[in-house]
Amino acid sequence: MRKILFASSEVHPLMKTGGLADVSASLPIALRQKGQDVRIILPAYRQCLEALSDIRTVATVKLDGFHLPIEILQSTLPDSDVTLWLLHSPQHFDRDGGAYGPNQGGDWEDNAARFALFSRAIAALAMDQVGLDWKPDILHCNDWQTGLAPALIADLPKRPATVFTIHNLAYQGLYPQAAFDALDLPTSLWHSDGLEFYDMLSFMKGGLIYSDHITTVSPTYADEICTYEYGYGLEGLLSERAKEGRLSGILNGIDNDEWNPKTDAAINKKYSAKTVLDKRENKVAIQRYFSLPEKEDTLVLGLISRLVAQKGVDLSLDAITQLLEAGENIQLVCLGSGEKSYEQDLRVLRARYPDKIGVNIGYNEALAHQIEAGADVFLMPSRFEPCGLNQLYSLRYGTLPIVRSTGGLADSVVDAYGDNLKDGLATGFKFDAATAEALEESLQRAISLFQRPRIWRKMVLTAMEQNFSWEKSSQFYLRLYDSL
Ligand code: ADP
Ligand code: GLC
Repeated sequence: MRKILFASSEVHPLMKTGGLADVSASLPIALRQKGQDVRIILPAYRQCLEALSDIRTVATVKLDGFHLPIEILQSTLPDSDVTLWLLHSPQHFDRDGGAYGPNQGGDWEDNAARFALFSRAIAALAMDQVGLDWKPDILHCNDWQTGLAPALIADLPKRPATVFTIHNLAYQGLYPQAAFDALDLPTSLWHSDGLEFYDMLSFMKGGLIYSDHITTVSPTYADEICTYEYGYGLEGLLSERAKEGRLSGILNGIDNDEWNPKTDAAINKKYSAKTVLDKRENKVAIQRYFSLPEKEDTLVLGLISRLVAQKGVDLSLDAITQLLEAGENIQLVCLGSGEKSYEQDLRVLRARYPDKIGVNIGYNEALAHQIEAGADVFLMPSRFEPCGLNQLYSLRYGTLPIVRSTGGLADSVVDAYGDNLKDGLATGFKFDAATAEALEESLQRAISLFQRPRIWRKMVLTAMEQNFSWEKSSQFYLRLYDSL
């Protein structure tokens, strides 16, 4: 049994902006089920304090860079027996709004201070310096918000081995040098082989430079981030790590209990591969929810997403507009929030095609499940996608994903083309170029295959047979921990 401290700024169901939260709950639970002593550390956001009933103070620490002592609270991750520690600094985390900014958008001005404090707390816990009498063998950090922790302990004797997982290289935690000075970080960390990135402080580099091993969330993304196109200037460093054998891609798993059409309490009619015809009832339910004509022969496209450029929202909008102009028999049901311009574009499209488009701007877990269950295909034309979870949920719900062949999308979907179709291996639709035309072409292929129910049904069943549970992927993490 290993002792693993798992550090993340989001953990489902306590705080979530995206897939990081899902992984930060489901991976620790999977490791726990494999007999590991894994504990999670998360900031004590207001939402966590409100959601958790069983919560107590287990330590009080003074951390560098902040004048007040800070409490460590202890609770349990809901629906599990995983110990959860929360960094309780009300000034930094107990406020109305999201993890990284106010609800109306933008970032909190003190994010550098908030996540430097979080990283310092992680480092202190990792070195067993807070009086909890528990020292991990492995510190597993996730994304830039935890990036300073590996840097802070890198040179300390008897430190745990460190793993840093990149969930999204696009968010790096970059701040002016003045922030570095204000945070009172060790000056020895300020150089180009350290936290400095072209005169800026990079939290991400803390994880990339100072951890013993870097992982990212799919094999293809691990290759992609070593290239100019996807590397954001860090491709040189990442390529070096890859050559040293210190960068690997491990495909995310999903929580098969939470995302299971057979038991899903959020959906209208539960179904399995055996009763897949019942999926129809969920289609009618979602059409009704969005006030769309309840037609079985219409291909319903689902889209659930943060509305940002990464997700290719503009490609979806353009391709669908083209298809609607051409009179294709499709409907789009969409749930998302993010950049105001995309939100507005979606509303405009809805106004233009009220019997073809359903839009819900917001965040709604139950509706996300209902769309997964009710749609025929799921749209994910991402410009880049480190892993992507929604295509995995879609496969499990027999909702065929249409994806751009990048990152984890490339690694998890088998295109309905040539031999794949003939051999019954196809699970979705893939295209290469990040253009509306390429997406439209894939959509056309889906529209015509939808007219061939026997082939379509076979694809749905093949998709539902795929197993992307954590069973396999958590083994890769365990092997990695052992090797360190
Ligand atoms: P990312 O983390 O880049 O946003 P992922 O596909 O890994 O992409 O994970 C997205 C997660 O967030 C999924 O669990 C998805 O269902 C959820 N999600 C995204 N937007 C919404 C929304 N508006 N309402 C409910 N869930 C959402
Ligand atoms: C990030 C990525 C997404 C990935 C998720 C969980 O948010 O954008 O592709 O699935 O992290 O690893």
